[in-house]
Amino acid sequence: MAKILVNNSGPLHGEVWISGAKNAVLPLLAATILTEDSCVIEGVPDLADVTVMKQMLENYGAHIDDSEEGVIKIKTPEVISCEGDRELVQEMRASLFTMGPMLARYGKVVMPMPGGCTIGKRPIDLHLKGFRALGAEVDIDEENEVVTVTAGKDGLVGDAIYLDFPSVGATENILMAATLSKGTTIIENAAKEPEIIDLANLLNKMGARIKSAGTDMIRVEGVEKLSGCIHEAIPDRIETGTFMLAAAITRGDIMIRNAIPGHVRPIMAKLRECNVGVEVMPDGIYVDARGRDLISTDIKTLPYPGFPTDIQSPFMAFLTTVDGKSVVRETVFENRFMHVVELNRMGADIVTENREARVPGGKKLKGAKVRATDLRAGAAMVLAGLAASGTTEVSEIYHIERGYENFVGKFKALGADIMKIDHD
Ligand code: UD1
Repeated sequence: MAKILVNNSGPLHGEVWISGAKNAVLPLLAATILTEDSCVIEGVPDLADVTVMKQMLENYGAHIDDSEEGVIKIKTPEVISCEGDRELVQEMRASLFTMGPMLARYGKVVMPMPGGCTIGKRPIDLHLKGFRALGAEVDIDEENEVVTVTAGKDGLVGDAIYLDFPSVGATENILMAATLSKGTTIIENAAKEPEIIDLANLLNKMGARIKSAGTDMIRVEGVEKLSGCIHEAIPDRIETGTFMLAAAITRGDIMIRNAIPGHVRPIMAKLRECNVGVEVMPDGIYVDARGRDLISTDIKTLPYPGFPTDIQSPFMAFLTTVDGKSVVRETVFENRFMHVVELNRMGADIVTENREARVPGGKKLKGAKVRATDLRAGAAMVLAGLAASGTTEVSEIYHIERGYENFVGKFKALGADIMKIDHD
């Protein structure tokens, strides 16, 4: 199994270019099934999750040309299957994003239960609530763990849907399904993440009539048909946050290019509370932690525009190294502290109770053998390894490769002592 070896690297320094956002690209790719025309998605990062999504779409009947780096051309002239592949779905929860568009385009979708990061139960009830509200019938086969969703005889029909939690995936799925529904759909308590706006922008380019994406009430006037378009994905705000923390934890300085400051406001604010220098420049975000007395702060994850749950573990790794106690509260996912055990192997001494982690801070971390327990936790372990004494060996790095493009290469270019090894 491949591993990442990382040694204490001293202050990282240099420039990094942020890739297109994984969490934007996956739904953008899924949305292309809504039309028989050709769609071109640009700014696509080279990631394992993107490969899974391409395979999902090909199984449905998509023709994909990805010969140009960072660009995927997709055309689905005809849907040849409405069944999600179990292995692919279990590999990646975002495979679910194909349900809404398949239902809208084909009238039916059969989906095995999803997998993905092991961060709590992650039900799909809100997705299904949305499909039911649009008049679809939902049949859950508990024994075989398969969900079948079938549109009514006259297709989907718009309605008002209230999400009990502003789920990103449910908002995206319902949004895509609603574009081809009859009449008006209103999604209340919708997620407001930048990736939702990016998806709505793509759909509107395809001819959809979506208003107020990015607010908690999205309005969709259904249309009969969507057409092809060209669209470039937004930069990855979680990758941006990860490199901001790389500068912070190594007490280095990094110029982060192709980042949208408005998408990472809570991360900038929290780093500034810790006395890390964060400057928004015309061409990027400059993070400088050199020679500063850093102090602790508390973190509470929330749906956007609150502090992102995906940056909770990298931020926690950083907090272990600054003076003073911190409390980290995870409110979005029920079990997203698996990295705590791994950070504790390195001497972090973090104590968790329910959804709260108490970080004593002021630790000199020591290199250890640790696991990437999920995608972002994997990044957190590498960050911890950069600051720890000795060597840190991170296993299960397929999680990292699911969501970070050229992870090791980008860190090396900043001066990190890091390498990937393919065998024991
Ligand atoms: C997306 C992101 C993920 C991020 C998360 C929260 C992608 C590919 N992934 O995941 O990186 O961590 O948003 O910002 O975009 N929930 C329900 N019922 C549902 C759906 C969700 O109870 O039907 C709950 C989940 O269990 C979780 C919370 O809602 O506790 C947030 O989940 P959601 O916003 O749906 O996350 P994802 O779309 O899976």
